[in-house]
Amino acid sequence: MHIHIDQARITQEIEALAAISEVEPPAVTRIVFSEQDLRARKWLNERLSEAGLAVRVDAVGNTFAQWEGSRPDLPAVATGSHIDAIPYAGKFDGVVGVLGGLEAIRSLKASGFRPIRSIELIHFTSEEPTRFGVGCLGSRLLSGTLSSEADIHLRDADGKTLQTVRTAAGFSGDLASVRLPTGFYSAFVELHIEQGPILEREKTTIGIVTEIAAPASFLITLEGQGGHAGATLMPGRRDALCAASELTLAIEQLAQISGAIDTVATVGTCEVHPGAINSIPSRVKLGVDLRDIDGNRRDRILEEIRHAANDITRRRQVEIQFEMLNADAPATSSPRVLKAIRAAVEKTSVSLRELVSRAYHDSLFMARIAPTAMIFIPCRDGISHRPDEFADISDIAAGVEVLARTVADLSREGD
Ligand code: GLV
Ligand code: MN
Ligand code: MN
Repeated sequence: MHIHIDQARITQEIEALAAISEVEPPAVTRIVFSEQDLRARKWLNERLSEAGLAVRVDAVGNTFAQWEGSRPDLPAVATGSHIDAIPYAGKFDGVVGVLGGLEAIRSLKASGFRPIRSIELIHFTSEEPTRFGVGCLGSRLLSGTLSSEADIHLRDADGKTLQTVRTAAGFSGDLASVRLPTGFYSAFVELHIEQGPILEREKTTIGIVTEIAAPASFLITLEGQGGHAGATLMPGRRDALCAASELTLAIEQLAQISGAIDTVATVGTCEVHPGAINSIPSRVKLGVDLRDIDGNRRDRILEEIRHAANDITRRRQVEIQFEMLNADAPATSSPRVLKAIRAAVEKTSVSLRELVSRAYHDSLFMARIAPTAMIFIPCRDGISHRPDEFADISDIAAGVEVLARTVADLSREGD
């Protein structure tokens, strides 16, 4: 099978999507259900229709573009990723998997290949947690990991529920209908930039992801006592930000001394109330992200963070409250999908190595309902979630060709 990947077309499409952003280039900000997200969805749906794919959209905005196989009665093979982008992100995270998936399908069509199982490209809603606090919203709901009650429980920073926001964005219907049963897809494979330095450092084109690390995130609210910054003397202060600062350093240290390089912890958000330079912070809310390849070790560090937080706040006479947002299990890739990727890499004549994914992806949740694996390509200096995120078009094209050959192979399988 001869596969031709149109590098100029993908480059042009990545640029076109990057231009739909709240902020000036090269940074990209595209928050779920924002005006930019809706414009990007419209642009993408036009590309999907141009490619002759049948498009279906579910109640949370997950979009499924199908190339029908000769046996549409069999579970389809799926690929896909996300196009939402955190504040001041780059243009490749997620996008390579969606536009690359589209190009993979177009290249297979052009090669004369005809699938037996249908092939579906999925654009998942809100892989990033920016708006509703929980990552992989679309794939969580789709896999049944998140219940449909999220519709009224999840709120954005303006206090609007998911239900209100999605309905206003044009995605209505019962959220429970998003869920798909195990076996709905015969396989799922996601193409993504590595977001780490290994492939580039080792001059390797393709990473085959064998496991995805276990992510957890939680909010810690510290309530002290505010007051006049000039008139309140230092003894006896109950400054919530000082407690939060001490706790932030404790979280960093607990991750550093976990006994494994695989533990990572980040305090990524910090809201200070009332937020005036001449007022003692009375309330601080920290957003913490904690991950590990080993779910048990992740949970042990979580307990240690709780202990440290209790010690610090007791000493500083500050009230504390924990709110878990998510604590997900790690995922292990399917040997069958890994085998198909390996065979595709061989046919593409590029180098490969196995990797674990420290970032989470929609694949973490797809793995719960379908045999799943991921294909990584290098990104410059391992940088991601930054405007200078960069992936070379030749690596993108290699990843797309491997993806195309993988889904072609998986779509040939009989029942
Ligand atoms: C995904 O964006 C992640 O934070 O791993
Ligand atoms: Mn991301
Ligand atoms: Mn991503």
